[in-house]
Amino acid sequence: MCGIVGFIGKEQAAPIILEGLAKLEYRGYDSAGVAVYDGESIKVEKAMGRLKVLEEMTHYGSTLPGTIGIGHTRWATHGQPSNINAHPHLNAKGTISVVHNGIIENYLQLKNRLIRHGYEFQSETDTEVVAQMLDYYYSGDPLEDIVKVLHRIEGSFSLGIIFSEQPDAIYAVRKSSPLIVGKSAEGSFIASDVPAILKYTRKVYYLGENEVAKLTCDDVTFYDADGEQIEKEPVEIKWDAEAAEKGGYEHFMLKEIYEEPKAVRETLMPRIKDDRIEIEELKLTDEEIRKIPKIHIVACGSAYHTGVTAKYVFEGMGRIPVDVDIASEFRYRDPLLSEEDLVIVISQSGETADTLEALRIAHKKGCKVLGIINVLGSSISREADMVMYTWAGPEISVATTKAYSAQLAALYLLALKFSYVKGAISDQELAAYIDDLKRLPDQIELLLGGKERIQRFANRYVAAKDVFFIGRGIDYAISLEGSLKLKEISYVHSEAYAAGELKHGTISLIEEGTLVAAVLTQKDLYQKTMSNIVEVKARGAFVLAVTNEGNTEIEKNADYVIYIPETNKYFANSLAIIPLQLFGYYVSVGKGYDVDHPRNLAKSVTVE
Ligand code: G6P
Repeated sequence: MCGIVGFIGKEQAAPIILEGLAKLEYRGYDSAGVAVYDGESIKVEKAMGRLKVLEEMTHYGSTLPGTIGIGHTRWATHGQPSNINAHPHLNAKGTISVVHNGIIENYLQLKNRLIRHGYEFQSETDTEVVAQMLDYYYSGDPLEDIVKVLHRIEGSFSLGIIFSEQPDAIYAVRKSSPLIVGKSAEGSFIASDVPAILKYTRKVYYLGENEVAKLTCDDVTFYDADGEQIEKEPVEIKWDAEAAEKGGYEHFMLKEIYEEPKAVRETLMPRIKDDRIEIEELKLTDEEIRKIPKIHIVACGSAYHTGVTAKYVFEGMGRIPVDVDIASEFRYRDPLLSEEDLVIVISQSGETADTLEALRIAHKKGCKVLGIINVLGSSISREADMVMYTWAGPEISVATTKAYSAQLAALYLLALKFSYVKGAISDQELAAYIDDLKRLPDQIELLLGGKERIQRFANRYVAAKDVFFIGRGIDYAISLEGSLKLKEISYVHSEAYAAGELKHGTISLIEEGTLVAAVLTQKDLYQKTMSNIVEVKARGAFVLAVTNEGNTEIEKNADYVIYIPETNKYFANSLAIIPLQLFGYYVSVGKGYDVDHPRNLAKSVTVE
């Protein structure tokens, strides 16, 4: 987590850095800081809390004059959020300043060694070790010193570094945490992510593993881990800058919910050709697909929930065995993989540390890895054997919505492709599924039209203490995501339960007025979940049901019903999740919370 921005050029650095950091607050927002070289020395300002505190403190950067600087927005890992632990960190003389995203795993060992050499530390962070080590090795040649440090630190790190004795350059280093370098007529930039510098340039270089960059006002030069110069080609960013702005919506989350039809359409349509699924990025022949004995899906958070759905789809539609794992579990359980198995990793950011590590484990075991990724050029997209991009565009709100929907769309395409190639579905069935896929974006649009009704319902439940989401099969997978959406942004305790499991303990928590959200999109499981609704009603629950159009008899048992348009059972998640996302959103808005920046969370989790 954490966001980094650096600038060297013809303009004042601090305002550009602060503006860039504002675009990276999704990466962390418990404290922020900026360091600028003012012609004599490095001046640092830090502030606890959201970036706006630092912006106001420095009059939007005007109290920090200078044309070279680095800045940071933090999500605490080592040491609590505080002014001292906020970045940038300095050596004792104040001549070297460092910002860092990631974790230096061997920092304690290095810190103790430096302490033995007489160094004193101000903060509890792992980052300060880098500043002090650079001081220890300081030779007057920053590149040489950085290379020495690079060989001694372990873990994940992207670093931005300035030296007051060489004030004509910013240095940047990257290993397993994202960092990009940008170039424009105004100068040179570093950033953790593209939106931070998109206003200034679309010409971006992606730093590779263990690579170093030297940025001056007019030039950027790249080096490998041994300090040998290397050539890099810039990538042209084609995003619409507007896409990363709120565009009139009150929150990014609502804007992104409204972008779901587009995200799903753009993920699906280029891969549907003449009633066939053609996934160009899938570098597997039909013969190879037929030989895959098992698929392993690995992901975190909401991406994991799309994997849970995909298991039902691949197994139900194609009779293809699928294991789904949370990446942080997968990486430590020595998973049983055979070389013929296919591993699918799903990640919006493409930077999630546990998912990246899962990919590497799969590679060590000889498996091919397919990534379903939203961010172009991200670490996972570069290491995976095949990448199927979700075309959701930049997602800013910490709680994912449109990327989740685009991931589902990508997984449906894969499941259809595999099921067809394996002979589990006929031409006619494939054509019918494709028709349903093509209708999904418009159906999502239709559901968005009903947002006021959900808003009214959410307003009634702003004071809810506990909410239970129940469903069976794919409806259980939908419940997992519906529950996560609510709890992560509204801080209402909420749990998702397989409806049949409720009576093995959890039903004892149901009391008069407890809200139970029941999802019933699966025809063959409808009556079963209906019985569970009756059970919770008998214990006083207030039941919100999400079900298919036409199931009106549900109104006898449920207190409030949201109907979703008809699709086949495998794609129902894409529709049922929309009202649940809106519900979570409006409860959070009703409580007056910072919807896009929920406490303690970050969008891109680059630490394990
Ligand atoms: C964080 C985000 C979630 C996301 C998860 C996985 O926890 O807040 O919204 O689902 O990380 O992220 P990824 O980028 O790998 O999809």
